[in-house]
Amino acid sequence: MQARGPLMIEHRLIERMLSVIKDELAEIKSKNKVDPVFVDIAVDFIRVYADRTHHGKEEDILFRELTNKSLSTKDRQAMNELIEDHVFGRQTTKALVDANSRYRHGDEAALTDIAEKLQILVEFYPKHIEKEDKVFFPASRAYFTDEEDQAMLAEFWEFDRKVIHEKYKSVVQDLEA
Ligand SMILES: [Fe+2]
Ligand SMILES: [Fe+2]
Repeated sequence: MQARGPLMIEHRLIERMLSVIKDELAEIKSKNKVDPVFVDIAVDFIRVYADRTHHGKEEDILFRELTNKSLSTKDRQAMNELIEDHVFGRQTTKALVDANSRYRHGDEAALTDIAEKLQILVEFYPKHIEKEDKVFFPASRAYFTDEEDQAMLAEFWEFDRKVIHEKYKSVVQDLEA
């Protein structure tokens, strides 16, 4: 498997989650209410899977390796745009968490914010995935030898191995605090 393999497989699970969120959005709009626990689950998926596990491998390994290559202006711009997308995703998720907390504490007006942030995520993220799958990953593969690509793949597996421990260590730390 090439290094981009796991990243593309992860994109497919993220797409499935986005489709679940889309269905839930329709429910939110028709019933004019939301289950805050659903938002918690979606946020956990976005933060731990899409951001830490997935963007973590992209940013900490693939993009790091690419900064050592002499990228074309176009590819460098594309990478910077992807990094900005990740930041935008984090900001939107943070706003979603805040709105969910307000809603949970009785602020019904926060429902509009929750729906708006979920809507932004389901619209923007598929475009991000498409840029990577169809344009950036194929372009970036050309900068690496087969050996370098396989070394990144090995580092990806090692990265994944650590995430589960990091996640539950933080769960215990939060509960202890
Ligand atoms: Fe990405
Ligand atoms: Fe990605």
